Amino acid sequence: MKRFSMLLAVLFVASGLVMTHATGACSATIIKIAGMKPEGEPETKVMHRFGDILKELSGGKYEVKVFPNSQLGKESAYIANTRKGVIQMCATGTQTSSMQPSMGMLETPMLYDDYAHARRAMNGKTFELINQGFPEKSGLIMINAFPLGFRNFYTKKEVHSIDDIKGLRMRVPNIPLYTNFAKECGISGQPMPFAEVPAALDQGIIDGGDSPFSDIVADKMYEKCPKITTTRHILVIHALYINKDFFEKLPAEDQKWFMEAAKKAADECWDNAEKVDAEAIKEIKAHGGTVSEPSEALHKYMQEAGKRSWTLFTDPNSKNFVPNAQEILDSAASYRAK
Ligand code: G3P
Repeated sequence: MKRFSMLLAVLFVASGLVMTHATGACSATIIKIAGMKPEGEPETKVMHRFGDILKELSGGKYEVKVFPNSQLGKESAYIANTRKGVIQMCATGTQTSSMQPSMGMLETPMLYDDYAHARRAMNGKTFELINQGFPEKSGLIMINAFPLGFRNFYTKKEVHSIDDIKGLRMRVPNIPLYTNFAKECGISGQPMPFAEVPAALDQGIIDGGDSPFSDIVADKMYEKCPKITTTRHILVIHALYINKDFFEKLPAEDQKWFMEAAKKAADECWDNAEKVDAEAIKEIKAHGGTVSEPSEALHKYMQEAGKRSWTLFTDPNSKNFVPNAQEILDSAASYRAK
């Protein structure tokens, strides 16, 4: 049934590049945007807010139709459809590093001290350096960057010490930065798309995974994995992407509306990041889950593993070598609180 509804959704979307929607005397241009996260999660909220703000700025000229929760297929499928122009926009994270490795540096492990630090970097030079050359290579333009939250472990058994994570079968996104970091930590990383995690937990294929609090709550991971350890090892940064040809054909004033709507929606997400975490912690505890800190030794061990994992980007012999990696790292460091 789920497959059939997805097929219907894809057929509907594929049925026209940009459709206009008759609403009485005026008609709006429909913009379709796909994402991977459920309703209530920051990525989906940003897509909705982007739509509301764009509609308001454009006086109803544009109407955004949001397809969250992998309704239009898994990340790889809807990203490909955005590149082809089947849909106009999508939201995703470092999945885009398969087109240009620098995009993986949006989520460099153990890079940011807190949300404020990352926000300065994403509003500044670090964002520009990561994005350099990406539109030409991918046919997509990244029009903002916003946080889903710092990743924490969710597991069936408690994780506190270094020994607790050794050999643990943890779901990781199928993205080099994640598989590499898991290896550096001595974890048995099990790569799979986000949408497959609940079934993998049910089937006992994995012992847990790592996600921002927002995802742990949105997908109720705590029901199957009630032990949350606040390792905060990677800040998940997602972005809205728009088909480059589509964007470049828009009138200049309309382009400004798109950019302004994207910026405002991202700003709201940054503003709310701490609150989202605090509310999630309450919800997890209210459902019998526990939230605890890793031992100091585990924290240090993961920090060192994180730093070692940076060679994925800095080593000229790596398949994921980023020529301006050191500049990106230096730039991110320069936004640390003085
Ligand atoms: O930005 C990449 C991130 O989205 C991967 O993590 O857990 O959302 O698949 P996940």
